[in-house]
Amino acid sequence: MNNKNTKIRILAIETSCDETAAAVIEEQLDGSRIKSGMTGLRPVILSNIISSQIDLHAQTGGVVPEVASRAHMEAIIPVISQALLLGREVGPADYQEAIEELSGITHIAVTAGPGLIGSLLVGFNAAKTMAYARGLPIIPINHIEGHIYSAFSRELSSADDQFPILALTVSGGHTSLTLMKDHGIYETLGQTLDDAVGEAYDKVAKLLGLGYPGGPAISKLACEFRRLGAGSRESGEETPNFKLQTPNSIVFPRPVMNDGTYNFSFSGLKTSVLQKTKDIVLELNLNSPTEIPDEIKQEIAYAFEEAVAEVLATKTARAVKEFQPKTVVFAGGVSANQYLASQIQLKVESIKSKDKTIQFLTPPRDMTGDNAAMIGLAAYHHIKQGKISNWDEIDVDSNWELT
Ligand code: KG4
Ligand code: ZN
Repeated sequence: MNNKNTKIRILAIETSCDETAAAVIEEQLDGSRIKSGMTGLRPVILSNIISSQIDLHAQTGGVVPEVASRAHMEAIIPVISQALLLGREVGPADYQEAIEELSGITHIAVTAGPGLIGSLLVGFNAAKTMAYARGLPIIPINHIEGHIYSAFSRELSSADDQFPILALTVSGGHTSLTLMKDHGIYETLGQTLDDAVGEAYDKVAKLLGLGYPGGPAISKLACEFRRLGAGSRESGEETPNFKLQTPNSIVFPRPVMNDGTYNFSFSGLKTSVLQKTKDIVLELNLNSPTEIPDEIKQEIAYAFEEAVAEVLATKTARAVKEFQPKTVVFAGGVSANQYLASQIQLKVESIKSKDKTIQFLTPPRDMTGDNAAMIGLAAYHHIKQGKISNWDEIDVDSNWELT
C-alpha cells in the first residue's frame, strides 16, 4: 500500500462504449503555477492510449453492444500495457515488463458508468483485479465527470478556481447540462429525453449513406453548404431535377427549445429529417435517400446542424443567465464540432453581464472523444479529497447519474 508521501501516479481505464482506453497520470510540481498563485502541484498526462472500434462498428453503421464488449476483451491487455509503458508499442513479449510498471502506480481509476454494461464490465473487472492483486486503492469515476475534466487538461488550466462550472456534455450516448459547484459537487440540470446529439448525427448520416460515425461527415457537408451554398445560391436555382426555392429552403424544428426546462430531445428532429428525405426521394423519383444529390445532402446537413446549434446554445445560455457560472465547458465527442462550439460560445458571451467574464472551454481535439486521461484527471481530484475505495467496495452502474 502506498504511503502519504508517495507521488500520486494513477492508472486510469475507460471502456464505457466503443473505445478501449488506458492512461497514466502523475502528480508533478509546476513552478509556473506557484508564481501564478495556484497550488504548485498538478496532474500531468504521461500516456493516453486509445484503441478505437470505429472500423468494426462502421460495418454495422453503429455500435453493437455484444461486439463492443468482445473487442474490449481483445484490446484491454495490450492497451493497459502500452499505457503503463508510456506509449511504447507493445506485443505479448512486453506484458511482463508492463506488469512490473504497476509497482510505481499508487491508484487505479476506472469508469463505472454510465455506459454499455458489457463494455463497462471489461475495464471495470480489469481495474478491480489489479487493485486487488496490488493492494491499491480504486476510484470509480462517472464518465460524464471525466468528460468535464477533459476541458482542464492543458498546462496551467485547472478547475480549482473556475467554479461554478456549467458543463454541456454531448456525445454519442449523452447530452446533459451539469452545474458543478466544486470538485465532486454536481447538479444535473437536464439531459436528453430520447436520442443523444451524437446519436442524432449518426442516424442522419446513416440515412444519407454517409457512414459511421456520422458527426464529422454531417458537419463537413454543413460546412460546405455554409461556404458555397447558403450565400451564393440564387432563389429558384435549379439543381438536377430539384428546385431549391430559397437559399435556405429546408428548416427543421427546434425540439423542446423553449419548454422552460434544461432537457433536450433530438428524436423528433431526426424524424423530421427522415420525412424530408422521403419527400425529396418521391419528388426526384429516387430509390433511396442515399441517392439524393450532394448539394441537397449539404443543405439537409446544414439545416440539421443549425437546429442542433440553436437548441444547444439557447439552453446553455438560459442556464448561464440563471446560474451565473464562471466557466462554461463544452465537452464530449460532439464538442469536436467547431461550428457548434462557436455558436454556443457566441450566445453565451452575448448574455454575460458587463462586469463578469465567462471562460468558455473545450477539450483539446484529441480528448473530445472517449479517453482514459480524462478519467485519471477526475480521479486525481477524488484522491485529493480522500475519496478512495477498496476493490470490493465498488460496483458498475450503467445508468449512473452525476449528482
Ligand atoms: O464521446 P464519444 O467519442 O463517444 C461516446 O461517448 O458516445 O462521442 C462520439 C460521438 C459520435 O456520435 C460522433 O458522431 C460524434 O461524437 N462526433 C461529432 C463530431 N465528431 C464526433 N458530432 C458532430 N460533429 C463532429 N465533428
Ligand atoms: Zn463519452
